[in-house]
Amino acid sequence: FQKKSLAGKKVLITAGPTFEAIDPVRGLTNRSSGKMGFAIARAAIEAGAEVHLIAGPCDLATPLLATGKIIRSDIVSAKEMHIAVMNTQDYDVFFAVAAVADWGITKPAKDKIKRNGNKVPTLEFTANPDILLEVAKTAKIKAGKPYPYCVGFAAESTDLKAHAQEKRERKGIPMIVGNIGPDTFGSDLNQLLVIDERGSKKIATAEKLDLARQLIQLVAKKI
Ligand code: C5P
Repeated sequence: FQKKSLAGKKVLITAGPTFEAIDPVRGLTNRSSGKMGFAIARAAIEAGAEVHLIAGPCDLATPLLATGKIIRSDIVSAKEMHIAVMNTQDYDVFFAVAAVADWGITKPAKDKIKRNGNKVPTLEFTANPDILLEVAKTAKIKAGKPYPYCVGFAAESTDLKAHAQEKRERKGIPMIVGNIGPDTFGSDLNQLLVIDERGSKKIATAEKLDLARQLIQLVAKKI
């Protein structure tokens, strides 16, 4: 009998996009199918973890497996995701996979904004909290290891490695995972660039579930 790599561990995962309302029928969102985050949730349960999955609007089934436990919270906006994360306590690993909207609409209209000839509305934005940065700030060292162990994700249109490295340092997280893509959005396939304190390495193109399993094994060794 081999002990599962995340047996007895709690894992928090954010997945999918967030949606920022403009009015009751319109809004702004980020491109994310949620597939990578849900694949990580599945792989974590396979590894024996207890998972809390906080999902933005996406049309994916909760992975239910006998090897572990899962609780799912569905949220819409980045602010709601922030609250759901902050209300979660005592977890060993945080995977921030969600594509969180950096800005929300300052004052969403209560009623649908009507067309007014050729006049166009002006939108005013307010910065949303950086959830990952905030969690990383509260991380402690427990038995010589970061707790929770925070893993960020980066999707970039240029210079992935440089941007991901900068993000890892700025957010103060031990690991960041770059989406090499190029067609990662909505695809079942992806290619990853994993950056930690020791440098970077690629995980070759594979199904997202396969990539997630490899990532879980890497993280299990860190905690
Ligand atoms: O800052 P940026 O959005 O480029 O960083 C991406 C990483 O930070 C992802 O792991 C994402 O889930 C996380 N993030 C967050 N809260 C935000 C913005 C990004 O947790 N408001």
